[in-house]
Amino acid sequence: MNSPDISVRNLWKVFGAAGEKIPGDPQLSSLSSAELLAASGCVAAVRNLSFDVAKGEVFVVMGLSGSGKSTLVRCLTRLIEPTSGQVMVDGKDVLQAGVGELRELRRRKMSMVFQHFGLLPHRTVLDNVSYGLQIRGAAKNERYGRAREIIELVGLKGYEQHYPDQLSGGMQQRVGLGRALAGDPDTILFDEPFSALDPLIRRDMQAEVIRLHKEMGKTMVFVTHDLSEALKLGDRILIMRNGEMVQCGTGDELVGSPADKYIEDFVSEVPRADVLTLKWIMRPVMDGTPLDAPVLSSGTIIRDAISAVMHSSGPVLVEDEAGRIIGQIDRDSILSVLQPAEAAA
Ligand SMILES: Nc1ncnc2c1ncn2[C@@H]1O[C@H](COP(=O)(O)OP(=O)(O)OP(=O)(O)O)[C@@H](O)[C@H]1O
Ligand SMILES: [Mg+2]
Repeated sequence: MNSPDISVRNLWKVFGAAGEKIPGDPQLSSLSSAELLAASGCVAAVRNLSFDVAKGEVFVVMGLSGSGKSTLVRCLTRLIEPTSGQVMVDGKDVLQAGVGELRELRRRKMSMVFQHFGLLPHRTVLDNVSYGLQIRGAAKNERYGRAREIIELVGLKGYEQHYPDQLSGGMQQRVGLGRALAGDPDTILFDEPFSALDPLIRRDMQAEVIRLHKEMGKTMVFVTHDLSEALKLGDRILIMRNGEMVQCGTGDELVGSPADKYIEDFVSEVPRADVLTLKWIMRPVMDGTPLDAPVLSSGTIIRDAISAVMHSSGPVLVEDEAGRIIGQIDRDSILSVLQPAEAAA
Protein backbone atom coordinates (compact mmCIF):
# COMPACT_ATOMS: atom_id res chain seq x y z
CA MET A 1 0.00 0.00 0.00
CA ASN A 2 1.16 3.55 -0.71
CA SER A 3 1.83 5.81 2.26
CA PRO A 4 -1.57 6.54 3.76
CA ASP A 5 -3.34 9.71 2.74
CA ILE A 6 -5.67 9.56 5.72
CA SER A 7 -4.79 7.77 8.91
CA VAL A 8 -7.36 7.44 11.69
CA ARG A 9 -6.48 6.09 15.14
CA ASN A 10 -8.80 5.37 18.06
CA LEU A 11 -11.28 7.94 16.88
CA TRP A 12 -14.30 8.63 19.08
CA LYS A 13 -17.25 10.96 18.69
CA VAL A 14 -19.59 10.96 21.62
CA PHE A 15 -22.55 13.32 21.48
CA GLY A 16 -23.88 14.59 24.80
CA ALA A 17 -22.90 16.81 27.71
CA ALA A 18 -20.53 14.31 29.35
CA GLY A 19 -19.23 13.01 25.99
CA GLU A 20 -15.54 13.60 26.57
CA LYS A 21 -15.57 11.38 29.68
CA ILE A 22 -16.70 8.27 27.80
CA PRO A 23 -13.65 7.19 25.69
CA GLY A 24 -11.30 7.10 28.71
CA ASP A 25 -13.77 5.37 31.01
CA PRO A 26 -13.43 1.59 30.62
CA GLN A 27 -16.79 0.90 32.21
CA LEU A 28 -18.88 3.43 30.27
CA SER A 29 -17.06 2.88 26.97
CA SER A 30 -17.83 -0.83 27.04
CA LEU A 31 -21.60 -0.31 27.35
CA SER A 32 -23.88 -0.92 24.38
CA SER A 33 -25.44 2.13 22.73
CA ALA A 34 -28.73 1.72 24.59
CA GLU A 35 -27.01 1.16 27.96
CA LEU A 36 -24.72 4.13 27.41
CA LEU A 37 -27.65 6.37 26.57
CA ALA A 38 -29.50 5.26 29.70
CA ALA A 39 -26.44 5.61 31.95
CA SER A 40 -25.03 8.90 30.64
CA GLY A 41 -27.43 10.49 28.16
CA CYS A 42 -24.67 10.21 25.54
CA VAL A 43 -24.60 8.74 22.04
CA ALA A 44 -21.32 7.20 20.91
CA ALA A 45 -21.65 7.74 17.15
CA VAL A 46 -18.05 6.74 16.40
CA ARG A 47 -16.35 4.27 18.72
CA ASN A 48 -12.63 3.71 18.70
CA LEU A 49 -12.18 3.50 14.94
CA SER A 50 -8.74 2.98 13.38
CA PHE A 51 -8.01 2.63 9.66
CA ASP A 52 -5.82 4.00 6.88
CA VAL A 53 -6.86 5.20 3.45
CA ALA A 54 -4.13 4.98 0.82
CA LYS A 55 -3.46 7.70 -1.73
CA GLY A 56 -5.68 7.15 -4.76
CA GLU A 57 -7.84 4.57 -3.00
CA VAL A 58 -11.64 4.53 -3.11
CA PHE A 59 -12.56 3.73 0.49
CA VAL A 60 -16.22 3.02 1.14
CA VAL A 61 -17.93 3.40 4.52
CA MET A 62 -21.09 1.32 4.86
CA GLY A 63 -23.61 0.57 7.54
CA LEU A 64 -27.27 0.87 8.41
CA SER A 65 -28.91 4.20 9.16
CA GLY A 66 -27.55 5.62 12.42
CA SER A 67 -24.39 3.52 12.41
CA GLY A 68 -22.17 6.63 12.40
CA LYS A 69 -21.09 6.99 8.76
CA SER A 70 -21.82 10.72 8.36
CA THR A 71 -20.34 11.48 11.76
CA LEU A 72 -17.17 9.64 10.79
CA VAL A 73 -16.59 11.46 7.50
CA ARG A 74 -17.43 14.81 9.05
CA CYS A 75 -14.86 14.18 11.78
CA LEU A 76 -12.15 13.86 9.10
CA THR A 77 -12.27 17.61 8.40
CA ARG A 78 -13.72 18.53 11.79
CA LEU A 79 -17.07 19.62 10.42
CA ILE A 80 -17.92 17.62 13.52
CA GLU A 81 -15.37 17.96 16.32
CA PRO A 82 -14.06 14.50 17.33
CA THR A 83 -14.13 13.68 21.04
CA SER A 84 -10.76 11.91 21.07
CA GLY A 85 -8.29 10.05 18.90
CA GLN A 86 -6.14 11.04 15.98
CA VAL A 87 -6.78 11.99 12.35
CA MET A 88 -3.70 12.46 10.19
CA VAL A 89 -4.08 13.81 6.66
CA ASP A 90 -0.96 13.72 4.54
CA GLY A 91 1.12 13.40 7.70
CA LYS A 92 -0.49 16.41 9.43
CA ASP A 93 -2.51 16.09 12.61
CA VAL A 94 -5.97 17.50 11.83
CA LEU A 95 -7.00 17.65 15.49
CA GLN A 96 -4.11 20.00 16.24
CA ALA A 97 -4.80 22.26 13.24
CA GLY A 98 -5.61 25.92 13.85
CA VAL A 99 -8.52 27.79 12.26
CA GLY A 100 -6.48 28.86 9.24
CA GLU A 101 -5.07 25.40 8.62
CA LEU A 102 -8.52 23.87 8.87
CA ARG A 103 -9.89 26.31 6.34
CA GLU A 104 -7.04 25.38 3.97
CA LEU A 105 -7.70 21.69 4.56
CA ARG A 106 -11.37 22.05 3.62
CA ARG A 107 -10.74 24.34 0.66
CA ARG A 108 -7.73 22.70 -0.93
CA LYS A 109 -7.17 19.27 0.44
CA MET A 110 -10.54 17.61 1.05
CA SER A 111 -13.82 18.58 -0.59
CA MET A 112 -17.16 17.15 0.28
CA VAL A 113 -20.15 16.13 -1.84
CA PHE A 114 -23.38 15.95 0.16
CA GLN A 115 -26.56 13.94 -0.26
CA HIS A 116 -28.76 16.99 -0.71
CA PHE A 117 -26.40 18.75 -3.08
CA GLY A 118 -26.08 21.89 -0.94
CA LEU A 119 -25.99 24.22 -3.96
CA LEU A 120 -26.44 27.99 -3.77
CA PRO A 121 -29.94 28.47 -5.23
CA HIS A 122 -29.49 32.04 -6.46
CA ARG A 123 -26.26 31.37 -8.28
CA THR A 124 -25.81 29.88 -11.74
CA VAL A 125 -24.10 26.58 -12.41
CA LEU A 126 -20.98 28.51 -13.38
CA ASP A 127 -21.00 30.47 -10.13
CA ASN A 128 -21.76 27.42 -8.02
CA VAL A 129 -18.84 25.51 -9.49
CA SER A 130 -16.47 28.47 -9.19
CA TYR A 131 -17.62 29.46 -5.70
CA GLY A 132 -14.80 27.66 -3.90
CA LEU A 133 -12.26 29.39 -6.14
CA GLN A 134 -13.92 32.73 -5.47
CA ILE A 135 -13.66 32.47 -1.70
CA ARG A 136 -10.08 31.45 -2.19
CA GLY A 137 -9.50 34.77 -3.93
CA ALA A 138 -8.95 33.56 -7.52
CA ALA A 139 -9.41 36.25 -10.18
CA LYS A 140 -12.62 36.14 -12.22
CA ASN A 141 -10.99 35.01 -15.48
CA GLU A 142 -9.09 32.26 -13.78
CA ARG A 143 -12.00 30.87 -11.82
CA TYR A 144 -14.45 31.00 -14.73
CA GLY A 145 -11.88 29.38 -17.00
CA ARG A 146 -11.34 26.58 -14.52
CA ALA A 147 -15.07 26.23 -13.79
CA ARG A 148 -15.87 25.87 -17.52
CA GLU A 149 -13.34 23.04 -17.81
CA ILE A 150 -14.87 21.28 -14.83
CA ILE A 151 -18.43 21.80 -16.08
CA GLU A 152 -17.45 20.07 -19.30
CA LEU A 153 -15.73 17.31 -17.35
CA VAL A 154 -18.89 16.51 -15.37
CA GLY A 155 -21.06 16.59 -18.49
CA LEU A 156 -22.89 19.91 -18.02
CA LYS A 157 -21.53 21.93 -20.93
CA GLY A 158 -24.25 24.29 -22.13
CA TYR A 159 -25.83 24.65 -18.69
CA GLU A 160 -23.40 27.26 -17.33
CA GLN A 161 -26.07 29.95 -16.95
CA HIS A 162 -28.82 27.71 -15.54
CA TYR A 163 -29.92 27.89 -11.90
CA PRO A 164 -30.05 24.77 -9.70
CA ASP A 165 -33.87 24.59 -9.68
CA GLN A 166 -33.84 24.40 -13.48
CA LEU A 167 -31.88 21.14 -13.32
CA SER A 168 -32.84 17.53 -12.57
CA GLY A 169 -31.57 15.86 -9.40
CA GLY A 170 -28.84 14.04 -11.29
CA MET A 171 -27.68 17.26 -12.93
CA GLN A 172 -27.69 19.08 -9.61
CA GLN A 173 -25.46 16.39 -8.18
CA ARG A 174 -23.14 16.82 -11.16
CA VAL A 175 -22.88 20.47 -10.11
CA GLY A 176 -22.10 19.32 -6.55
CA LEU A 177 -19.42 17.03 -7.95
CA GLY A 178 -18.06 19.86 -10.13
CA ARG A 179 -17.91 22.19 -7.17
CA ALA A 180 -15.92 19.59 -5.19
CA LEU A 181 -13.53 19.05 -8.12
CA ALA A 182 -13.01 22.73 -8.97
CA GLY A 183 -10.50 23.35 -6.20
CA ASP A 184 -8.49 20.31 -7.34
CA PRO A 185 -8.48 18.68 -3.88
CA ASP A 186 -6.43 15.54 -3.21
CA THR A 187 -9.37 13.85 -1.55
CA ILE A 188 -13.12 13.93 -2.09
CA LEU A 189 -15.50 12.88 0.68
CA PHE A 190 -18.92 11.72 -0.51
CA ASP A 191 -21.78 11.37 1.96
CA GLU A 192 -24.45 9.28 0.21
CA PRO A 193 -24.28 11.54 -2.83
CA PHE A 194 -26.59 9.46 -4.99
CA SER A 195 -29.17 8.15 -2.56
CA ALA A 196 -31.69 10.85 -3.53
CA LEU A 197 -31.42 9.92 -7.21
CA ASP A 198 -33.50 7.40 -9.09
CA PRO A 199 -31.80 4.12 -10.01
CA LEU A 200 -30.91 4.86 -13.64
CA ILE A 201 -29.44 8.28 -12.91
CA ARG A 202 -27.70 6.77 -9.97
CA ARG A 203 -26.01 4.23 -12.23
CA ASP A 204 -24.86 7.03 -14.54
CA MET A 205 -23.42 8.94 -11.61
CA GLN A 206 -21.60 5.87 -10.31
CA ALA A 207 -20.07 5.40 -13.74
CA GLU A 208 -19.13 9.08 -13.67
CA VAL A 209 -17.33 8.70 -10.37
CA ILE A 210 -15.47 5.63 -11.65
CA ARG A 211 -14.46 7.54 -14.79
CA LEU A 212 -13.31 10.59 -12.81
CA HIS A 213 -11.38 8.37 -10.46
CA LYS A 214 -9.61 6.70 -13.39
CA GLU A 215 -8.83 10.05 -15.02
CA MET A 216 -7.83 12.00 -11.94
CA GLY A 217 -6.74 9.31 -9.47
CA LYS A 218 -8.02 11.19 -6.43
CA THR A 219 -8.43 9.59 -3.05
CA MET A 220 -12.12 9.09 -2.31
CA VAL A 221 -14.01 8.29 0.86
CA PHE A 222 -17.50 7.28 -0.12
CA VAL A 223 -20.41 6.75 2.29
CA THR A 224 -23.29 4.60 1.15
CA HIS A 225 -25.72 2.12 2.58
CA ASP A 226 -26.07 0.36 -0.76
CA LEU A 227 -23.87 -2.73 -0.96
CA SER A 228 -23.93 -2.99 -4.75
CA GLU A 229 -22.72 0.62 -4.93
CA ALA A 230 -20.02 -0.18 -2.38
CA LEU A 231 -18.84 -3.21 -4.34
CA LYS A 232 -18.88 -1.32 -7.61
CA LEU A 233 -16.85 1.64 -6.37
CA GLY A 234 -14.79 0.55 -3.40
CA ASP A 235 -11.25 -0.74 -3.36
CA ARG A 236 -11.99 -1.51 0.28
CA ILE A 237 -15.14 -1.31 2.36
CA LEU A 238 -15.45 -0.48 6.06
CA ILE A 239 -18.66 -1.79 7.60
CA MET A 240 -19.91 -0.02 10.74
CA ARG A 241 -22.49 -0.98 13.33
CA ASN A 242 -23.41 1.26 16.27
CA GLY A 243 -20.31 3.37 15.71
CA GLU A 244 -17.92 0.42 15.66
CA MET A 245 -16.00 -1.24 12.87
CA VAL A 246 -17.34 -4.70 12.20
CA GLN A 247 -15.09 -5.51 9.25
CA CYS A 248 -12.86 -3.72 6.79
CA GLY A 249 -11.61 -5.31 3.60
CA THR A 250 -12.06 -5.79 -0.13
CA GLY A 251 -15.48 -6.85 -1.45
CA ASP A 252 -13.93 -10.22 -2.16
CA GLU A 253 -12.90 -10.58 1.50
CA LEU A 254 -16.25 -9.45 2.90
CA VAL A 255 -18.24 -11.82 0.72
CA GLY A 256 -15.77 -14.71 0.94
CA SER A 257 -15.14 -14.49 4.65
CA PRO A 258 -17.72 -12.39 6.51
CA ALA A 259 -16.60 -11.56 10.06
CA ASP A 260 -19.97 -12.32 11.69
CA LYS A 261 -23.67 -12.86 11.16
CA TYR A 262 -24.27 -9.13 10.60
CA ILE A 263 -21.87 -9.03 7.63
CA GLU A 264 -23.17 -12.37 6.41
CA ASP A 265 -26.68 -10.87 6.26
CA PHE A 266 -25.34 -7.77 4.55
CA VAL A 267 -23.70 -9.74 1.77
CA SER A 268 -26.23 -12.56 1.49
CA GLU A 269 -27.89 -11.13 -1.64
CA VAL A 270 -24.67 -10.52 -3.53
CA PRO A 271 -24.18 -12.69 -6.64
CA ARG A 272 -21.08 -14.43 -5.36
CA ALA A 273 -19.68 -15.26 -8.78
CA ASP A 274 -19.50 -11.52 -9.59
CA VAL A 275 -17.43 -10.67 -6.53
CA LEU A 276 -15.43 -13.68 -5.42
CA THR A 277 -12.12 -14.61 -7.03
CA LEU A 278 -10.85 -18.08 -7.85
CA LYS A 279 -8.86 -18.30 -4.64
CA TRP A 280 -12.11 -18.90 -2.73
CA ILE A 281 -13.12 -21.96 -4.74
CA MET A 282 -9.85 -23.58 -5.77
CA ARG A 283 -8.73 -26.92 -4.37
CA PRO A 284 -5.25 -28.37 -4.03
CA VAL A 285 -3.76 -29.66 -7.30
CA MET A 286 -4.52 -33.35 -7.68
CA ASP A 287 -2.03 -35.98 -8.79
CA GLY A 288 -3.68 -36.78 -12.10
CA THR A 289 -4.08 -33.18 -13.29
CA PRO A 290 -2.16 -32.65 -16.54
CA LEU A 291 0.51 -29.97 -16.19
CA ASP A 292 -0.37 -28.53 -19.59
CA ALA A 293 -3.94 -27.74 -18.44
CA PRO A 294 -5.07 -24.12 -18.97
CA VAL A 295 -3.98 -21.66 -16.24
CA LEU A 296 -5.88 -18.74 -14.71
CA SER A 297 -4.75 -16.21 -12.11
CA SER A 298 -6.11 -16.63 -8.56
CA GLY A 299 -7.31 -13.00 -8.68
CA THR A 300 -9.71 -13.72 -11.57
CA ILE A 301 -13.36 -13.04 -10.73
CA ILE A 302 -15.29 -16.30 -10.96
CA ARG A 303 -17.72 -14.88 -13.53
CA ASP A 304 -14.79 -14.13 -15.86
CA ALA A 305 -13.49 -17.69 -15.55
CA ILE A 306 -16.71 -19.47 -16.48
CA SER A 307 -16.10 -19.65 -20.19
CA ALA A 308 -12.52 -20.94 -19.90
CA VAL A 309 -13.51 -23.61 -17.39
CA MET A 310 -16.60 -24.75 -19.29
CA HIS A 311 -14.58 -25.04 -22.51
CA SER A 312 -11.76 -26.99 -20.93
CA SER A 313 -11.97 -30.76 -21.17
CA GLY A 314 -10.46 -31.18 -17.70
CA PRO A 315 -9.56 -29.06 -14.65
CA VAL A 316 -8.03 -25.59 -14.94
CA LEU A 317 -4.92 -24.70 -12.92
CA VAL A 318 -4.78 -21.58 -10.72
CA GLU A 319 -1.58 -19.55 -10.29
CA ASP A 320 -0.67 -16.84 -7.79
CA GLU A 321 0.80 -13.42 -8.61
CA ALA A 322 4.29 -14.89 -8.82
CA GLY A 323 3.16 -17.47 -11.39
CA ARG A 324 3.27 -20.42 -8.99
CA ILE A 325 0.56 -23.05 -9.44
CA ILE A 326 -1.42 -23.04 -6.17
CA GLY A 327 -4.60 -24.94 -6.97
CA GLN A 328 -7.11 -26.12 -9.49
CA ILE A 329 -10.78 -25.62 -10.31
CA ASP A 330 -13.27 -27.48 -12.46
CA ARG A 331 -16.87 -27.22 -13.61
CA ASP A 332 -18.25 -28.36 -10.28
CA SER A 333 -16.38 -25.69 -8.34
CA ILE A 334 -17.82 -23.03 -10.65
CA LEU A 335 -21.34 -24.45 -10.49
CA SER A 336 -21.24 -24.48 -6.69
CA VAL A 337 -21.18 -20.65 -6.53
CA LEU A 338 -23.61 -19.89 -9.33
CA GLN A 339 -27.23 -19.12 -8.49
CA PRO A 340 -29.42 -22.21 -9.01
CA ALA A 341 -31.10 -20.63 -12.07
CA GLU A 342 -27.74 -19.81 -13.69
CA ALA A 343 -26.34 -23.24 -13.00
CA ALA A 344 -29.33 -24.88 -14.69
CA ALA A 345 -29.00 -22.70 -17.80
N1 LIG B 1 -25.69 16.39 16.52
C1 LIG B 1 -26.02 15.23 17.09
N2 LIG B 1 -26.40 15.17 18.39
C2 LIG B 1 -26.69 13.99 18.97
N3 LIG B 1 -26.66 12.80 18.36
C3 LIG B 1 -26.29 12.79 17.07
C4 LIG B 1 -25.96 13.98 16.35
N4 LIG B 1 -25.64 13.66 15.09
C5 LIG B 1 -25.77 12.32 15.01
N5 LIG B 1 -26.16 11.79 16.19
C6 LIG B 1 -26.39 10.36 16.48
O1 LIG B 1 -25.22 9.65 16.12
C7 LIG B 1 -25.55 8.41 15.54
C8 LIG B 1 -24.89 8.27 14.18
O2 LIG B 1 -25.47 9.22 13.30
P1 LIG B 1 -24.98 9.41 11.80
O3 LIG B 1 -25.75 10.53 11.22
O4 LIG B 1 -23.49 9.50 11.78
O5 LIG B 1 -25.42 8.02 11.15
P2 LIG B 1 -25.39 7.56 9.62
O6 LIG B 1 -24.74 6.23 9.59
O7 LIG B 1 -24.82 8.64 8.77
O8 LIG B 1 -26.94 7.35 9.29
P3 LIG B 1 -27.77 7.62 7.90
O9 LIG B 1 -27.51 6.41 7.04
O10 LIG B 1 -29.17 7.67 8.36
O11 LIG B 1 -27.28 8.90 7.30
C9 LIG B 1 -27.07 8.34 15.51
O12 LIG B 1 -27.48 7.61 16.63
C10 LIG B 1 -27.49 9.79 15.63
O13 LIG B 1 -28.73 9.87 16.28
MG1 LIG C 1 -25.59 9.81 7.20
